[in-house]
Amino acid sequence: MFFRKKEIDTELNVPVHIGIIMDGNGRWAKKRGLPRKMGHREGAKTFRAITRSCKKLGVKYVTYYAFSTENWARPKEEVDGIMDLFDKYLDEVNDFKDENIRIRFIGDRSKLKPSLQNKMLNVEETSRKYSSMDCVLAINYGGRDEICHAVKNIAEMVEFGAIKPKDINEKIITENLYTQDIPPVDLIIRPSGEQRLSNFLIWQAAYSEYYFTNILWPDFKERDLKNAILAYSDRNRRFGGVVEKK
Ligand code: IPE
Ligand code: IPE
Ligand code: MG
Repeated sequence: MFFRKKEIDTELNVPVHIGIIMDGNGRWAKKRGLPRKMGHREGAKTFRAITRSCKKLGVKYVTYYAFSTENWARPKEEVDGIMDLFDKYLDEVNDFKDENIRIRFIGDRSKLKPSLQNKMLNVEETSRKYSSMDCVLAINYGGRDEICHAVKNIAEMVEFGAIKPKDINEKIITENLYTQDIPPVDLIIRPSGEQRLSNFLIWQAAYSEYYFTNILWPDFKERDLKNAILAYSDRNRRFGGVVEKK
């Protein structure tokens, strides 16, 4: 699909929160006869470019699926390579400060190297004041793991008598997720041709719109992001009601 000539910043309904499943790095490398790690390296470049594009287009939150709780099943060499890439990128994300972009992380950090965990804390701390957009990185993130984590927190609240089981509702669950103060995801983009969530934001995506494209993540460009936003803009979100789009 080509970018239709529609005024992207005047007529469009730009999603507040976009989730992106950065998929297809391995296939991108394979197509070129390169090792998979080269695909991850290119994918990291796309991450930087698309983050800037999101900000430019007026998105307020963008959440990237960078490493899932299931991705540990990959060969150690690949996992180590991805972790090294995060490490390197965390040294560089400071340049987002010029863009006033806040960086934060979701997922279970306890399984990551302590040095990486420290860097993540530092980056979050220094970028807390940046307010043009939130860039959320899901690292060792799994939607089921997140829900387990929330259930444990809530069980402890019950144990300590802070709440009663009958008080448990959707609001309390939402407040105990890693994404507690982040609004629900409006649009989920998955490149690479796969049409599944792979455990990404499963609670938060209950009423999301989805946009799938065959483009591999390292090839994903601002034009593709605009196409996804155009498609979103044409959707009629009813949330179970009967509201017709104007
Ligand atoms: C996504 O690309 C990156 C991670 C999961 C870390 P893949 O590595 O899954 O690429 P494909 O799906 O093998 O092409
Ligand atoms: C989802 O991609 C996880 C990330 C992009 C981080 P995968 O490549 O791991 O998903 P599956 O295995 O194709 O479902
Ligand atoms: Mg994949």
